[in-house]
Amino acid sequence: MSQRMNIPEHIAIIMDGNGRWAQQRGKPRNYGHSAGVDTLRKITAECARIGVKYLTVYAFSTENWNRPAEEVKLLMGLVISSLDNSLFDDNNIRFRTIGDKKRLPKDVQDTLQGLEERTKDYTRMTITVALSYSSRWELTDCMQKIAYQVESGKLKASDITEQTIIENMNSGFQPDPDLLIRTGGDIRISNYMLWQIAYSELYFTPIYWPDFDEKELIKAIEYFNTKQRRFGMTEEQVEKGL
Ligand code: IPE
Ligand code: IPE
Ligand code: MG
Repeated sequence: MSQRMNIPEHIAIIMDGNGRWAQQRGKPRNYGHSAGVDTLRKITAECARIGVKYLTVYAFSTENWNRPAEEVKLLMGLVISSLDNSLFDDNNIRFRTIGDKKRLPKDVQDTLQGLEERTKDYTRMTITVALSYSSRWELTDCMQKIAYQVESGKLKASDITEQTIIENMNSGFQPDPDLLIRTGGDIRISNYMLWQIAYSELYFTPIYWPDFDEKELIKAIEYFNTKQRRFGMTEEQVEKGL
């Protein structure tokens, strides 16, 4: 990795392709999900090592509740078993979650809450796992929270700004992603962080998530480094640092 590489402060990942990876090997889909957890551990440690401050991964969407009950059950079990390790303590990583957690089984909720509490003072990087998450759920929840404040007279509708919306979003504690990576070959967003990726650089790779590794991560960051982020300005303005 070149010394002068600009490391994104916040990387978001849609970890897709576990099922197809397993099927290719003649194994059940869950074999792919387990391999996907190993990849997530590796990528989490690597992101912390290279200086990423926020990593936000899509692990289970609102729409994934519609999968066969057996797969959902296995995935919920995997959430619990995969979190029982010292990755966070060893690397000074804070663990957070976003999503409609009340839909998760009680033991999963308790495990997540315990880990969030235990790691809350770690400062090297924050990993946020999106579970039972969709962007439309998050925006609906946010609008409801704001509406309650208006209804109770705490907030005037005319005082609502972009900042009000961010503060009431479940993910409002973190900056927007600089780079969004999707593995698995599909070029779509699947209801992930629609508000937050307004100006993210988007990187799609056909690699299935279990095969994604440190080298592939660097490729994505290299792609990010070829991009000039103009945020609506002209090239000349950006070059002059205006
Ligand atoms: C992503 O892999 C993980 C989850 C959505 C839980 P998939 O399970 O979607 O794998 P493919 O896309 O079917 O290969
Ligand atoms: C997106 O993957 C959600 C996660 C990675 C958790 P999906 O496999 O659910 O996406 P679609 O249904 O193919 O768009
Ligand atoms: Mg998929």
